[in-house]
Amino acid sequence: MTRPLTVLAVCLGNICRSPTAEAALQEAAAEAGLELEVRSAGTGGWHVGEPPDPRMRTAAARVGLTIDGSAERVDRVALDDADLVLAMDRSNLADLERLAGSAGIHTPIVLFREFDPAATGEVEVPDPYYGGEDGFDEVVAICRRTATTLVGLLAHGGVDEALAARGSVQP
Ligand code: 4NP
Repeated sequence: MTRPLTVLAVCLGNICRSPTAEAALQEAAAEAGLELEVRSAGTGGWHVGEPPDPRMRTAAARVGLTIDGSAERVDRVALDDADLVLAMDRSNLADLERLAGSAGIHTPIVLFREFDPAATGEVEVPDPYYGGEDGFDEVVAICRRTATTLVGLLAHGGVDEALAARGSVQP
């Protein structure tokens, strides 16, 4: 039995950006008919067990996206289980590379926004936690368009095709 492709979205708290990326990836995979296992986690443990931030849930709901689950902290097992790890910002990426390196894990770890068809050089999903409502809406928009593009690549040529297209996706 083959197991579905598994991707893991990671941010700092696992209550704003990565649960939104997770839901957007699930939405895009369903639309594309791609069987995709999507998980999310945070590099920090402060919010473990909590549901997504209510401001994030509200912004997602504005476009019909439901985000749920409870926050988890990323660990070696989660990294090892994934076929592709998607970091929301450079700080997350550095933390994940350190964790993977210390455990000899070779799962590819990339910035999620390298697949954003509308990114003009910006490769981080901005942290909305200390900002206003607009920031949460922006996270939703980024996650949805990036998820659609990434799922298209995964559906066509798997992780290899996605990795080859990093940073050069077209609108
Ligand atoms: P996230 O946002 O990493 O997108 O889930 C944050 C959540 C919590 C905190 C910072 C960012 N915090 O400082 O507690």
